[in-house]
Amino acid sequence: MIKVAFYDTKEYDKPSFERYGAEHEMQFRFLETKLNEDTVELAKGCDAVCVFVNDTVNAAVIEKLYEYGVKLIALRSAGYNNVDVQAAFGKAHVVHVPAYSPYAVAEHAIALLLTSVRRIHKAYNRTREFNFSLNGLTGFDFHGKTVGVIGTGKIGRIFIDICRGFGMHVIAYDRFPASDSGIEYVTLDELLSRSDIISLHCPLTDETRHMIDASAIERMKKGVVIVNTSRGGLIDAEALLEGIKARKVGAACLDVYEEEADIFFEDRSGHILNDDLLSRLISMPNVIVTSHQAFLTAEALNNIAETTVNNIRSYFDNDGVCDNELCYRCGNIERCKKERKERCF
Ligand code: NAI
Repeated sequence: MIKVAFYDTKEYDKPSFERYGAEHEMQFRFLETKLNEDTVELAKGCDAVCVFVNDTVNAAVIEKLYEYGVKLIALRSAGYNNVDVQAAFGKAHVVHVPAYSPYAVAEHAIALLLTSVRRIHKAYNRTREFNFSLNGLTGFDFHGKTVGVIGTGKIGRIFIDICRGFGMHVIAYDRFPASDSGIEYVTLDELLSRSDIISLHCPLTDETRHMIDASAIERMKKGVVIVNTSRGGLIDAEALLEGIKARKVGAACLDVYEEEADIFFEDRSGHILNDDLLSRLISMPNVIVTSHQAFLTAEALNNIAETTVNNIRSYFDNDGVCDNELCYRCGNIERCKKERKERCF
C-alpha cells in the first residue's frame, strides 16, 4: 500500500482521489493544512506527498521530506512554480499533471471576459433588485477586436480557437513560438501596443514574473482589457491598480493574484481582509476576481485525480520512471531524461 500525505485538501478533491486511490492500492492521508516548513512533519511515514498550487515546496521543505524518506512530490496541478525543482534534484522526484482540462481554463478566461465586457456581473445584481436600467452597461463587440495571447501552449491555443469563433483578430507572443501553427506571432512590445484584449497563458518563471508591470501597461492601448488565468505573479498588481485608476486599463479579469496563497480557496466573508491591494482591486467596478477556479470542472477534477494516481503508481511500479516527471536538468524540464532511460538520479 503506497502512503500519500495529501496537503491542502478541499472537499471537492476527496471523492475522485478516494475512488482512484482505492483502485490502485493507495492510501491518502488527507490534511487540510498547506505544506510548509511547519507542517512537513505530517508527511512522516509516507512514501509521497501530493501538493497543490499554494503549498510551499522550497529547499527547506524538500530537505525535510528527504530526511523522512519521502521519495515523490506529486503535484495535482499543471503549474509548478511553487516547487524548487532544482533543490529537489537528487533528493525527491517531482511529477505533475501536464494537462487535465485546458478547456476548463480557456473557457473560464472567456467567461470572465464576456462577463466583464458585457457587464453581466452588474446586470445580474441589478435585476435581482428589480433595477432594469441599462445605464452604464454598454459593452463592446468582440467581433473585429484584436486579442493578444501571451503563451500559446495547450490553454492558449484553445483560447485562440474560441476567440477566432467570435471573429476576433488574434496575435500572440510566445518565447518558443510553435511553427506551422497558423498563429500570427509578434514581439511582446507589438502585442502590448496593438491588443484591445490581452490574455496571459504562459507559466510563471523568473523571466515572466511581473511581465505586466507599469512600463508594459504604459505601452498598452487605452481601455485595454487584461485577463489573467495563469499565475498572479505575472502581473505587478500595484501597477495594475495604478493603470486602472489612471483609466488606462479598461478592465481586469483575474482568476489568480500574486499574494493569493493565504487568501484564496477559503471562505473569508465576515473577516477583515488584510490585503489592501486586493481589497482595492475588488472594489473597482471594472475588475472581476475569481479565486483560482478556472480549473474547477467535473471533467478536470476527474482527470487530475486519475493522472496523479497514475503518476504515483507509475513511479513506484516502474523503478522511479514516470512520464510526467519534472526535471530541471532536462532543459524544458517537462521531459526528464529518464523517459529515454538515462536516469538523472
Ligand atoms: P503549456 O506549457 O502548454 O503552455 C505554456 C506556453 O507558455 C508554452 O507555449 C511556452 O512556450 C510559453 N512560454 C514559456 N515561457 C514564456 C515566456 N517567457 N513568454 C511567453 N511565453 C512563454 O501550459 P498550459 O497548460 O497552457 O498552462 C498555462 C498556464 O496556465 C500554466 O503555467 C499555469 O500557470 C496556468 N494554469 C492555471 C489554472 C487555473 O486554474 N487558473 C489551471 C491550469 C493552468
